[in-house]
Amino acid sequence: MDAITNLDPISPEGIPPLDEPARQYYFIAKCRQWVQAYTEENGRPPRACVTTFGCQMNARDSEKLSGILKQAGYQLTEDENADLTVFNTCTVRDNANQRVYGRLGKLNGYKRWNPRMKIALCGCMMQEADVVEKLKKSYGFVNLIFGTHNLYKFAELLFAALSSEEMIIDLWKDTDRIVENLPTERKYPFKSGVNIMFGCDNFCSYCIVPYVRGRERSREPKEIVREIEQLSAQGVTEIMLLGQNVNSYGKNLEHPVSFAALLREVEQIDGIRRIRFMTSHPKDLSDELIQTMAASDKLCRHLHLPLQSGSTGILEKMNRRYTREQYLNLVQKIRDQIPDIAITTDIIVGFPGETKEDLEQTIDMVRQVKFDNAFTFLYSKRTGTPAAAMKDQVPKVQAQEGFDRLLKVVQETAREQAAKDQGRILDALIEERNETTPGYVTGRLSNNRIVHVPGDEALIGKIVPVSLEECHGFYYTGRLA
Ligand code: 5AD
Ligand code: SF4
Repeated sequence: MDAITNLDPISPEGIPPLDEPARQYYFIAKCRQWVQAYTEENGRPPRACVTTFGCQMNARDSEKLSGILKQAGYQLTEDENADLTVFNTCTVRDNANQRVYGRLGKLNGYKRWNPRMKIALCGCMMQEADVVEKLKKSYGFVNLIFGTHNLYKFAELLFAALSSEEMIIDLWKDTDRIVENLPTERKYPFKSGVNIMFGCDNFCSYCIVPYVRGRERSREPKEIVREIEQLSAQGVTEIMLLGQNVNSYGKNLEHPVSFAALLREVEQIDGIRRIRFMTSHPKDLSDELIQTMAASDKLCRHLHLPLQSGSTGILEKMNRRYTREQYLNLVQKIRDQIPDIAITTDIIVGFPGETKEDLEQTIDMVRQVKFDNAFTFLYSKRTGTPAAAMKDQVPKVQAQEGFDRLLKVVQETAREQAAKDQGRILDALIEERNETTPGYVTGRLSNNRIVHVPGDEALIGKIVPVSLEECHGFYYTGRLA
Protein backbone atom coordinates (compact mmCIF):
# COMPACT_ATOMS: atom_id res chain seq x y z
CA MET A 1 0.00 0.00 0.00
CA ASP A 2 1.13 3.60 -0.65
CA ALA A 3 0.78 6.51 1.75
CA ILE A 4 -2.88 7.60 1.84
CA THR A 5 -3.50 11.15 0.67
CA ASN A 6 -7.30 11.24 0.82
CA LEU A 7 -8.66 10.56 4.29
CA ASP A 8 -12.33 10.97 3.36
CA PRO A 9 -13.09 7.26 3.00
CA ILE A 10 -11.51 6.54 6.41
CA SER A 11 -14.07 6.43 9.17
CA PRO A 12 -12.92 7.68 12.56
CA GLU A 13 -15.91 5.91 14.15
CA GLY A 14 -16.04 2.49 15.80
CA ILE A 15 -13.11 0.51 17.12
CA PRO A 16 -9.59 1.44 15.98
CA PRO A 17 -8.06 -1.18 13.64
CA LEU A 18 -5.21 -3.22 15.09
CA ASP A 19 -3.00 -3.43 12.03
CA GLU A 20 -0.57 -0.70 10.93
CA PRO A 21 -0.54 1.74 9.28
CA ALA A 22 -4.40 1.49 9.10
CA ARG A 23 -4.59 2.19 12.85
CA GLN A 24 -2.62 5.41 12.48
CA TYR A 25 -4.77 6.61 9.58
CA TYR A 26 -7.79 6.03 11.81
CA PHE A 27 -6.22 8.27 14.47
CA ILE A 28 -5.22 10.90 11.92
CA ALA A 29 -8.92 11.01 10.97
CA LYS A 30 -9.78 11.32 14.69
CA CYS A 31 -7.35 14.22 15.10
CA ARG A 32 -8.85 15.78 12.00
CA GLN A 33 -12.30 15.77 13.60
CA TRP A 34 -10.81 17.52 16.62
CA VAL A 35 -9.07 20.06 14.35
CA GLN A 36 -12.31 20.74 12.46
CA ALA A 37 -14.16 21.44 15.72
CA TYR A 38 -11.31 23.72 16.85
CA THR A 39 -11.40 25.58 13.52
CA GLU A 40 -15.15 26.18 13.76
CA GLU A 41 -14.84 27.43 17.30
CA ASN A 42 -11.86 29.73 16.71
CA GLY A 43 -12.33 30.81 13.12
CA ARG A 44 -8.88 29.45 12.20
CA PRO A 45 -7.15 26.09 12.18
CA PRO A 46 -4.80 25.28 15.07
CA ARG A 47 -1.12 25.99 14.38
CA ALA A 48 1.62 23.41 14.93
CA CYS A 49 5.38 23.84 15.08
CA VAL A 50 7.91 20.99 14.87
CA THR A 51 11.42 21.96 15.97
CA THR A 52 14.29 19.61 15.17
CA PHE A 53 17.46 19.22 17.20
CA GLY A 54 20.29 16.97 16.03
CA CYS A 55 21.08 15.05 12.89
CA GLN A 56 19.60 14.31 9.47
CA MET A 57 17.79 11.28 10.90
CA ASN A 58 15.91 13.57 13.23
CA ALA A 59 15.20 16.01 10.41
CA ARG A 60 13.63 13.17 8.46
CA ASP A 61 11.63 12.04 11.48
CA SER A 62 10.33 15.60 11.84
CA GLU A 63 9.09 15.48 8.26
CA LYS A 64 7.08 12.41 9.22
CA LEU A 65 5.59 14.22 12.24
CA SER A 66 4.77 17.23 10.05
CA GLY A 67 3.16 14.97 7.44
CA ILE A 68 0.81 13.57 10.06
CA LEU A 69 -0.01 17.02 11.44
CA LYS A 70 -0.69 18.46 8.02
CA GLN A 71 -2.99 15.60 7.12
CA ALA A 72 -4.83 16.12 10.42
CA GLY A 73 -5.47 19.71 9.31
CA TYR A 74 -2.98 21.65 11.42
CA GLN A 75 -1.44 24.73 9.89
CA LEU A 76 2.33 24.27 10.04
CA THR A 77 4.41 27.18 11.30
CA GLU A 78 7.99 27.83 12.37
CA ASP A 79 6.82 29.93 15.31
CA GLU A 80 7.13 27.94 18.54
CA ASN A 81 4.38 30.06 20.09
CA ALA A 82 1.78 27.75 18.53
CA ASP A 83 -1.21 25.62 19.56
CA LEU A 84 0.96 22.51 19.41
CA THR A 85 4.74 22.59 19.66
CA VAL A 86 6.82 19.45 19.22
CA PHE A 87 10.51 19.28 20.12
CA ASN A 88 12.25 16.41 18.35
CA THR A 89 15.29 16.15 20.60
CA CYS A 90 18.91 15.00 20.33
CA THR A 91 21.16 13.74 23.10
CA VAL A 92 24.44 13.02 21.33
CA ARG A 93 26.23 15.64 23.42
CA ASP A 94 25.15 17.30 26.65
CA ASN A 95 24.82 20.75 25.07
CA ALA A 96 22.03 19.36 22.85
CA ASN A 97 20.12 18.43 26.03
CA GLN A 98 20.76 21.77 27.70
CA ARG A 99 19.35 23.62 24.72
CA VAL A 100 16.11 21.67 24.99
CA TYR A 101 15.68 22.54 28.68
CA GLY A 102 16.36 26.20 27.91
CA ARG A 103 13.81 26.31 25.12
CA LEU A 104 11.22 24.45 27.22
CA GLY A 105 11.27 27.33 29.70
CA LYS A 106 10.25 29.62 26.88
CA LEU A 107 7.40 27.33 25.83
CA ASN A 108 6.09 27.42 29.39
CA GLY A 109 5.88 31.21 29.06
CA TYR A 110 3.82 30.87 25.87
CA LYS A 111 1.56 28.34 27.53
CA ARG A 112 0.70 30.79 30.30
CA TRP A 113 -0.88 33.01 27.65
CA ASN A 114 -2.45 30.11 25.77
CA PRO A 115 -3.38 27.44 28.36
CA ARG A 116 -4.83 25.17 25.64
CA MET A 117 -1.39 24.93 24.05
CA LYS A 118 -0.05 21.36 23.86
CA ILE A 119 3.66 20.62 24.21
CA ALA A 120 5.10 17.34 22.94
CA LEU A 121 8.64 15.99 23.29
CA CYS A 122 10.10 13.10 21.34
CA GLY A 123 13.39 11.86 19.90
CA CYS A 124 16.61 10.54 21.32
CA MET A 125 16.70 12.45 24.61
CA MET A 126 13.39 10.91 25.67
CA GLN A 127 14.94 7.44 25.55
CA GLU A 128 16.96 8.31 28.66
CA ALA A 129 15.26 7.40 31.94
CA ASP A 130 16.83 10.23 33.98
CA VAL A 131 15.63 12.83 31.45
CA VAL A 132 12.05 11.60 31.71
CA GLU A 133 12.24 11.61 35.52
CA LYS A 134 13.40 15.22 35.45
CA LEU A 135 10.61 16.19 33.05
CA LYS A 136 7.99 14.50 35.21
CA LYS A 137 9.28 16.26 38.30
CA SER A 138 9.98 19.77 37.07
CA TYR A 139 8.29 20.20 33.68
CA GLY A 140 4.70 19.21 34.47
CA PHE A 141 3.41 21.50 31.71
CA VAL A 142 4.58 19.04 29.03
CA ASN A 143 1.61 17.11 27.58
CA LEU A 144 3.15 14.28 25.60
CA ILE A 145 6.43 12.35 25.71
CA PHE A 146 7.35 9.59 23.28
CA GLY A 147 10.57 8.14 21.89
CA THR A 148 12.39 7.04 18.78
CA HIS A 149 10.87 3.54 18.47
CA ASN A 150 7.21 4.50 18.45
CA LEU A 151 7.33 7.66 16.35
CA TYR A 152 4.96 6.04 13.87
CA LYS A 153 2.30 6.13 16.63
CA PHE A 154 2.32 9.94 16.75
CA ALA A 155 -1.28 10.32 15.52
CA GLU A 156 -2.58 7.93 18.18
CA LEU A 157 -0.58 9.60 20.93
CA LEU A 158 -1.53 13.09 19.80
CA PHE A 159 -5.20 12.15 19.89
CA ALA A 160 -4.74 10.86 23.43
CA ALA A 161 -3.02 14.12 24.42
CA LEU A 162 -5.79 16.21 22.83
CA SER A 163 -8.37 14.24 24.84
CA SER A 164 -6.64 14.48 28.22
CA GLU A 165 -5.08 16.92 30.66
CA GLU A 166 -2.64 14.30 31.99
CA MET A 167 0.98 14.05 30.87
CA ILE A 168 1.02 11.15 28.42
CA ILE A 169 4.20 9.10 28.31
CA ASP A 170 4.80 6.25 25.87
CA LEU A 171 8.36 4.96 25.67
CA TRP A 172 9.68 1.71 24.27
CA LYS A 173 13.09 0.27 25.05
CA ASP A 174 13.63 -1.13 21.58
CA THR A 175 11.73 -2.46 18.58
CA ASP A 176 12.24 -4.60 15.54
CA ARG A 177 9.24 -3.02 13.90
CA ILE A 178 9.34 -0.75 10.83
CA VAL A 179 5.98 0.77 9.85
CA GLU A 180 5.87 1.82 6.21
CA ASN A 181 3.66 4.22 4.24
CA LEU A 182 2.74 6.98 6.63
CA PRO A 183 2.48 10.54 5.28
CA THR A 184 5.48 12.91 5.22
CA GLU A 185 5.77 16.63 4.62
CA ARG A 186 9.08 17.39 2.91
CA LYS A 187 11.02 20.57 3.58
CA TYR A 188 12.26 20.77 -0.01
CA PRO A 189 10.17 19.66 -3.03
CA PHE A 190 13.25 18.57 -5.02
CA LYS A 191 15.36 16.70 -2.47
CA SER A 192 14.61 14.24 0.27
CA GLY A 193 16.18 12.05 2.92
CA VAL A 194 15.29 8.36 2.78
CA ASN A 195 15.84 6.08 5.78
CA ILE A 196 17.46 2.84 4.76
CA MET A 197 18.14 1.56 8.25
CA PHE A 198 17.52 2.43 11.85
CA GLY A 199 19.58 2.00 15.00
CA CYS A 200 23.22 1.13 15.46
CA ASP A 201 25.15 -1.90 16.71
CA ASN A 202 28.65 -0.45 16.83
CA PHE A 203 28.85 0.65 20.45
CA CYS A 204 31.64 3.18 20.11
CA SER A 205 32.50 3.68 23.76
CA TYR A 206 31.63 7.42 23.88
CA CYS A 207 28.34 7.17 22.00
CA ILE A 208 24.81 7.07 23.32
CA VAL A 209 23.15 6.40 19.96
CA PRO A 210 22.96 2.58 20.26
CA TYR A 211 21.14 3.04 23.57
CA VAL A 212 18.62 5.57 22.30
CA ARG A 213 18.09 4.38 18.72
CA GLY A 214 18.23 0.66 19.45
CA ARG A 215 19.54 -2.29 17.46
CA GLU A 216 20.36 -2.04 13.79
CA ARG A 217 17.45 -2.80 11.44
CA SER A 218 17.47 -2.43 7.65
CA ARG A 219 14.47 -1.69 5.48
CA GLU A 220 13.72 -4.09 2.65
CA PRO A 221 15.30 -2.93 -0.63
CA LYS A 222 11.93 -3.09 -2.41
CA GLU A 223 10.38 -0.71 0.15
CA ILE A 224 13.27 1.72 -0.28
CA VAL A 225 13.06 1.57 -4.07
CA ARG A 226 9.31 2.06 -3.98
CA GLU A 227 9.62 5.12 -1.74
CA ILE A 228 12.24 6.64 -4.05
CA GLU A 229 10.13 5.93 -7.13
CA GLN A 230 7.27 7.79 -5.49
CA LEU A 231 9.56 10.68 -4.56
CA SER A 232 10.84 10.82 -8.12
CA ALA A 233 7.24 10.91 -9.43
CA GLN A 234 6.69 13.92 -7.13
CA GLY A 235 9.64 15.78 -8.66
CA VAL A 236 12.48 14.84 -6.30
CA THR A 237 15.83 14.66 -8.10
CA GLU A 238 18.26 14.31 -5.19
CA ILE A 239 18.04 11.78 -2.40
CA MET A 240 20.11 11.23 0.72
CA LEU A 241 20.11 7.66 2.00
CA LEU A 242 20.18 7.79 5.79
CA GLY A 243 21.52 5.39 8.40
CA GLN A 244 23.86 5.50 11.39
CA ASN A 245 26.18 3.12 9.58
CA VAL A 246 25.09 2.71 5.97
CA ASN A 247 28.04 0.46 5.14
CA SER A 248 26.54 -2.35 7.15
CA TYR A 249 23.15 -1.99 5.43
CA GLY A 250 21.33 -5.21 4.59
CA LYS A 251 23.48 -7.64 6.56
CA ASN A 252 20.61 -8.73 8.80
CA LEU A 253 17.90 -8.94 6.17
CA GLU A 254 16.30 -12.30 5.46
CA HIS A 255 17.98 -12.12 2.05
CA PRO A 256 21.15 -10.13 2.76
CA VAL A 257 22.02 -7.30 0.36
CA SER A 258 25.15 -5.13 0.34
CA PHE A 259 24.93 -1.35 0.51
CA ALA A 260 26.68 -1.11 -2.86
CA ALA A 261 24.06 -3.43 -4.40
CA LEU A 262 21.30 -1.23 -2.98
CA LEU A 263 22.98 1.83 -4.52
CA ARG A 264 23.14 0.16 -7.92
CA GLU A 265 19.43 -0.57 -7.71
CA VAL A 266 18.58 2.98 -6.62
CA GLU A 267 20.68 4.35 -9.47
CA GLN A 268 18.32 2.73 -11.98
CA ILE A 269 15.36 4.80 -10.82
CA ASP A 270 14.33 7.29 -13.50
CA GLY A 271 14.32 10.93 -12.54
CA ILE A 272 16.80 10.58 -9.66
CA ARG A 273 19.91 12.50 -10.68
CA ARG A 274 21.90 12.71 -7.47
CA ILE A 275 22.36 10.19 -4.69
CA ARG A 276 24.03 10.97 -1.36
CA PHE A 277 24.34 8.89 1.77
CA MET A 278 25.44 9.17 5.36
CA THR A 279 27.05 8.06 7.63
CA SER A 280 29.86 5.69 6.66
CA HIS A 281 31.88 3.81 9.23
CA PRO A 282 35.48 3.35 8.02
CA LYS A 283 35.66 -0.23 9.29
CA ASP A 284 32.81 -1.36 7.00
CA LEU A 285 33.56 0.61 3.83
CA SER A 286 33.97 -2.00 1.11
CA ASP A 287 35.95 -2.06 -2.14
CA GLU A 288 32.66 -2.83 -3.83
CA LEU A 289 31.29 0.53 -2.61
CA ILE A 290 34.34 2.44 -3.87
CA GLN A 291 34.03 0.78 -7.28
CA THR A 292 30.29 1.47 -7.41
CA MET A 293 30.88 5.14 -6.61
CA ALA A 294 33.70 5.44 -9.14
CA ALA A 295 31.54 3.95 -11.91
CA SER A 296 28.49 6.09 -11.23
CA ASP A 297 27.66 9.60 -12.36
CA LYS A 298 24.66 9.81 -10.04
CA LEU A 299 26.52 9.08 -6.81
CA CYS A 300 27.73 12.39 -5.43
CA ARG A 301 31.44 13.08 -5.02
CA HIS A 302 31.25 13.29 -1.25
CA LEU A 303 32.00 10.86 1.52
CA HIS A 304 31.47 11.63 5.18
CA LEU A 305 33.89 9.32 6.95
CA PRO A 306 34.12 9.99 10.69
CA LEU A 307 37.69 9.64 11.95
CA GLN A 308 37.04 10.57 15.64
CA SER A 309 40.76 10.42 16.50
CA GLY A 310 44.08 10.12 14.69
CA SER A 311 45.67 8.11 17.49
CA THR A 312 45.46 4.33 17.28
CA GLY A 313 45.54 4.05 21.09
CA ILE A 314 42.53 6.36 21.46
CA LEU A 315 40.73 4.68 18.56
CA GLU A 316 41.07 1.41 20.40
CA LYS A 317 39.64 2.87 23.61
CA MET A 318 36.83 4.32 21.50
CA ASN A 319 36.10 0.82 20.15
CA ARG A 320 36.32 2.10 16.57
CA ARG A 321 37.96 -1.09 15.26
CA TYR A 322 40.43 0.53 12.84
CA THR A 323 43.91 1.96 13.24
CA ARG A 324 45.37 5.23 12.07
CA GLU A 325 47.17 3.37 9.26
CA GLN A 326 44.05 1.53 8.14
CA TYR A 327 42.17 4.83 7.88
CA LEU A 328 44.99 6.42 5.88
CA ASN A 329 45.13 3.43 3.51
CA LEU A 330 41.40 3.55 3.03
CA VAL A 331 41.50 7.25 2.14
CA GLN A 332 44.34 6.61 -0.29
CA LYS A 333 42.35 3.86 -1.98
CA ILE A 334 39.28 6.09 -2.26
CA ARG A 335 41.20 9.06 -3.66
CA ASP A 336 43.03 6.82 -6.16
CA GLN A 337 39.78 5.55 -7.62
CA ILE A 338 37.64 8.69 -7.22
CA PRO A 339 40.06 11.61 -7.58
CA ASP A 340 37.45 14.39 -7.37
CA ILE A 341 35.88 13.13 -4.15
CA ALA A 342 35.47 15.42 -1.13
CA ILE A 343 36.06 13.69 2.19
CA THR A 344 34.61 15.16 5.37
CA THR A 345 34.85 13.87 8.90
CA ASP A 346 33.92 14.11 12.58
CA ILE A 347 36.59 14.43 15.28
CA ILE A 348 36.25 14.31 19.05
CA VAL A 349 38.76 16.16 21.26
CA GLY A 350 39.25 15.37 24.93
CA PHE A 351 38.27 11.70 24.98
CA PRO A 352 39.34 10.11 28.33
CA GLY A 353 43.08 9.49 28.41
CA GLU A 354 43.83 11.68 25.37
CA THR A 355 47.33 13.13 25.72
CA LYS A 356 48.98 16.03 23.88
CA GLU A 357 50.74 13.43 21.69
CA ASP A 358 47.43 11.81 20.79
CA LEU A 359 46.11 15.18 19.71
CA GLU A 360 49.27 15.80 17.65
CA GLN A 361 48.51 12.56 15.85
CA THR A 362 44.98 13.76 15.07
CA ILE A 363 46.29 17.10 13.79
CA ASP A 364 48.87 15.32 11.66
CA MET A 365 46.13 13.14 10.23
CA VAL A 366 44.03 16.18 9.25
CA ARG A 367 47.07 17.54 7.39
CA GLN A 368 47.76 14.21 5.66
CA VAL A 369 44.20 13.41 4.64
CA LYS A 370 43.39 17.04 3.76
CA PHE A 371 39.80 16.83 4.84
CA ASP A 372 37.44 18.99 2.84
CA ASN A 373 35.68 19.76 6.09
CA ALA A 374 35.65 18.40 9.61
CA PHE A 375 33.10 18.74 12.37
CA THR A 376 35.03 18.97 15.61
CA PHE A 377 33.44 18.21 18.97
CA LEU A 378 34.54 18.48 22.57
CA TYR A 379 34.09 15.10 24.21
CA SER A 380 30.86 15.01 26.20
CA LYS A 381 30.35 12.44 28.92
CA ARG A 382 27.17 10.44 28.27
CA THR A 383 25.77 8.53 31.22
CA GLY A 384 25.64 4.80 30.63
CA THR A 385 28.37 4.66 27.97
CA PRO A 386 31.64 2.80 28.75
CA ALA A 387 33.71 5.99 28.28
CA ALA A 388 31.77 7.79 31.00
CA ALA A 389 33.20 5.30 33.51
CA MET A 390 36.81 5.68 32.30
CA LYS A 391 39.11 7.09 34.94
CA ASP A 392 41.34 9.57 33.15
CA GLN A 393 38.80 12.19 32.04
CA VAL A 394 40.59 15.13 30.39
CA PRO A 395 40.38 18.53 32.17
CA LYS A 396 38.14 20.97 30.33
CA VAL A 397 40.83 23.62 29.84
CA GLN A 398 43.19 21.13 28.22
CA ALA A 399 40.45 19.80 25.93
CA GLN A 400 39.42 23.32 24.91
CA GLU A 401 43.04 24.23 24.11
CA GLY A 402 43.40 21.16 21.93
CA PHE A 403 40.07 21.86 20.29
CA ASP A 404 41.14 25.40 19.32
CA ARG A 405 44.42 24.15 17.86
CA LEU A 406 42.71 21.45 15.86
CA LEU A 407 40.04 23.81 14.56
CA LYS A 408 42.69 26.11 13.07
CA VAL A 409 44.27 23.25 11.12
CA VAL A 410 40.88 21.97 9.99
CA GLN A 411 39.99 25.40 8.65
CA GLU A 412 43.33 25.73 6.86
CA THR A 413 43.02 22.40 5.05
CA ALA A 414 39.35 22.96 4.20
CA ARG A 415 40.26 26.32 2.65
CA GLU A 416 43.12 24.79 0.66
CA GLN A 417 40.91 22.01 -0.62
CA ALA A 418 38.14 24.39 -1.67
CA ALA A 419 40.60 26.72 -3.40
CA LYS A 420 41.57 23.90 -5.78
CA ASP A 421 38.21 24.11 -7.54
CA GLN A 422 38.23 27.90 -7.97
CA GLY A 423 37.81 28.72 -11.67
CA ARG A 424 36.16 25.39 -12.53
CA ILE A 425 32.70 24.89 -13.94
CA LEU A 426 30.65 22.35 -11.98
CA ASP A 427 26.98 21.39 -11.73
CA ALA A 428 25.03 22.81 -8.81
CA LEU A 429 21.55 21.97 -7.58
CA ILE A 430 20.00 25.35 -6.78
CA GLU A 431 18.33 24.94 -3.38
CA GLU A 432 17.10 28.29 -2.15
CA ARG A 433 17.01 32.03 -2.35
CA ASN A 434 20.04 33.61 -0.72
CA GLU A 435 18.70 35.17 2.48
CA THR A 436 21.40 37.79 2.87
CA THR A 437 22.00 38.97 -0.72
CA PRO A 438 18.89 39.80 -2.72
CA GLY A 439 19.04 38.65 -6.33
CA TYR A 440 21.21 35.64 -5.43
CA VAL A 441 20.39 31.96 -5.09
CA THR A 442 22.36 29.22 -3.33
CA GLY A 443 23.31 25.91 -4.86
CA ARG A 444 25.10 22.75 -3.78
CA LEU A 445 27.81 21.01 -5.77
CA SER A 446 28.08 17.25 -6.03
CA ASN A 447 30.98 17.45 -3.54
CA ASN A 448 28.60 19.14 -1.07
CA ARG A 449 30.19 22.60 -1.24
CA ILE A 450 27.97 25.65 -1.49
CA VAL A 451 27.96 28.30 -4.22
CA HIS A 452 26.10 31.61 -4.37
CA VAL A 453 25.16 32.86 -7.85
CA PRO A 454 23.04 35.71 -9.21
CA GLY A 455 19.65 34.30 -10.17
CA ASP A 456 15.98 34.15 -9.31
CA GLU A 457 13.59 31.68 -7.77
CA ALA A 458 12.82 30.04 -11.11
CA LEU A 459 16.18 28.28 -10.76
CA ILE A 460 15.29 26.57 -7.48
CA GLY A 461 15.26 22.79 -7.88
CA LYS A 462 17.27 22.86 -11.11
CA ILE A 463 20.72 21.39 -11.69
CA VAL A 464 22.75 23.94 -13.62
CA PRO A 465 26.43 24.41 -14.52
CA VAL A 466 28.05 27.23 -12.56
CA SER A 467 31.41 28.86 -12.82
CA LEU A 468 33.16 28.97 -9.41
CA GLU A 469 34.67 32.41 -9.65
CA GLU A 470 35.87 33.05 -6.14
CA CYS A 471 36.50 30.77 -3.19
CA HIS A 472 35.75 32.25 0.24
CA GLY A 473 36.93 29.41 2.41
CA PHE A 474 33.86 27.23 2.80
CA TYR A 475 31.77 28.56 -0.06
CA TYR A 476 32.13 30.09 -3.52
CA THR A 477 30.60 32.97 -5.35
CA GLY A 478 30.12 32.46 -9.04
CA ARG A 479 27.69 32.73 -11.91
CA LEU A 480 25.69 30.52 -14.22
CA ALA A 481 28.03 29.12 -16.85
N1 5AD B 1 31.03 13.52 22.76
C1 5AD B 1 31.42 14.29 21.72
N2 5AD B 1 31.09 14.03 20.45
C2 5AD B 1 30.35 12.92 20.21
N3 5AD B 1 29.88 12.40 19.07
C3 5AD B 1 29.18 11.29 19.36
N4 5AD B 1 29.19 11.07 20.68
C4 5AD B 1 29.91 12.07 21.24
C5 5AD B 1 30.29 12.40 22.56
N5 5AD B 1 29.93 11.66 23.61
C6 5AD B 1 30.17 12.96 17.75
C7 5AD B 1 30.91 11.95 16.89
C8 5AD B 1 29.88 11.55 15.89
C9 5AD B 1 29.06 12.81 15.78
C10 5AD B 1 27.71 12.64 15.19
O1 5AD B 1 28.98 13.27 17.10
O2 5AD B 1 32.00 12.62 16.28
O3 5AD B 1 30.43 11.15 14.65
FE1 SF4 C 1 21.32 13.16 18.02
FE2 SF4 C 1 22.33 10.77 17.49
FE3 SF4 C 1 19.76 11.00 17.92
FE4 SF4 C 1 20.81 11.98 15.68
S1 SF4 C 1 20.72 9.81 16.30
S2 SF4 C 1 19.35 13.01 16.97
S3 SF4 C 1 22.82 12.70 16.47
S4 SF4 C 1 21.41 11.37 19.39
